[in-house]
Amino acid sequence: MTTYTFPEGFLWGSATAAYQVEGAVDDDGRGESIWDRFSHTPGRIDGGDTGDVACDHYHRWAEDVALMRSLHLGAYRFSIAWPRVIPDGDGAVNPAGIGFYDRLVDGLLEAGIVPYPTLYHWDLPQALEDRGGWRSRSTVDAFARYAAAVVHRLGDRVSSWWTINEPWVVAFVGHEEGRHAPGRRSQAEAFDVAHHALLAHAEAVEVVRSRGAGRVGIVLNQAPQMPRSSHPDDVTLARFEDGKVNRWFMDPLAGRGYPDDVRRLVDWDAAVVRPGDMEAIARPIDMLGINYYTRAICAAPDVADEARPAPLVTAGDEWTEMGWEVYPPGIAEMLRRAHTEYGHRSLYVTENGAAHTAAPAGGTVSDEPRRSYIERHLVEVHNAITEGVPVHGYFVWSLLDNFEWDKGYSMRFGVVNVDYDTQQRLVKDSGRWLGRVAADNRFTVA
Ligand code: FCB
Repeated sequence: MTTYTFPEGFLWGSATAAYQVEGAVDDDGRGESIWDRFSHTPGRIDGGDTGDVACDHYHRWAEDVALMRSLHLGAYRFSIAWPRVIPDGDGAVNPAGIGFYDRLVDGLLEAGIVPYPTLYHWDLPQALEDRGGWRSRSTVDAFARYAAAVVHRLGDRVSSWWTINEPWVVAFVGHEEGRHAPGRRSQAEAFDVAHHALLAHAEAVEVVRSRGAGRVGIVLNQAPQMPRSSHPDDVTLARFEDGKVNRWFMDPLAGRGYPDDVRRLVDWDAAVVRPGDMEAIARPIDMLGINYYTRAICAAPDVADEARPAPLVTAGDEWTEMGWEVYPPGIAEMLRRAHTEYGHRSLYVTENGAAHTAAPAGGTVSDEPRRSYIERHLVEVHNAITEGVPVHGYFVWSLLDNFEWDKGYSMRFGVVNVDYDTQQRLVKDSGRWLGRVAADNRFTVA
């Protein structure tokens, strides 16, 4: 038996995002977001699902806060919907919209739960998309005004802020692959978007700093990109993917500019980069959030399997329903790298979790694959901490089953089950387990 005890004050939390849980898309003057438009476009989302109702968190937040409390979770990472706060993206603040987050923050504080809001988790106001969205620099300016409005209103009670969630997804899944809103397909545009998302982050850092509103950081998805074999094409591809997924964001934040090896290989003229931009993006941050789910094994498409030397890396035999390989060592690897290669001194796991369907039965949901996934990743997080990597908290993705973007409601990530017909919540076995871990700040593996 091994007991893993976490440092005193280690933060145990859960994460959600506005469009994935809130529903209430027409309430209190909320404006349209690119995800409303996208999810209502036939063929974009599995099963034709939309976030119209989602988990109805907008109306049930108090119950959800009570749930978090019952699970001894000390922090909640939620996102603020820009189209609720400024319905047309760049006009007047909607008092009812910001009022929702005002009440949520008060409710969290009353329950002893520290709010960790994210300013942007992908729900751009559609009105801004119509004017060029993240491809246009004017969206960065609009974001700065939105961030200022939020920080002005909540900054007396919120002291930890996340700026942008996963700019890689915003740029490349939304604008190169087109699988996410706004569903465009252009590599050059995607790189423009990545730059503007990083600039928006920089603006929010400045807003929080200048108002003395506490700590601020960005949330990046990070994943090892491993070559399938020692074939030079596999090795080159893995290096390129590492550059695009990981270094493209980590490097500029650390003041190193965009990685040259990637720049040479992509269709991007960098014309959107203006003097001073890279310095702004490199503004010091107080914390870095890492979202980790899986690794990638990179096999160059043009290499025939027979031409490949013996595999360097073989996938394991466990996959989540997302088709993501379960690879716990990767979480420690990315945390370690953020610390040793980039010098980050305050790290949080801002998302980690697994999609696994299990039906409620006998008043509970047996989701051992999820519990075990979380446990094995926490062992790795603990290993990293023991080595001296400064990880200060772990936010499970997700508190609730929710709208999983292009996969709709088919993917269940919650440690709490949601019955979408009745909106009834039911804590899963994984949630009960995590609750005990949070209460004890430790767990024992047999
Ligand atoms: C991350 C997103 C989050 C959720 C998980 C499964 O990329 O940040 O909203 O969808 O994946």
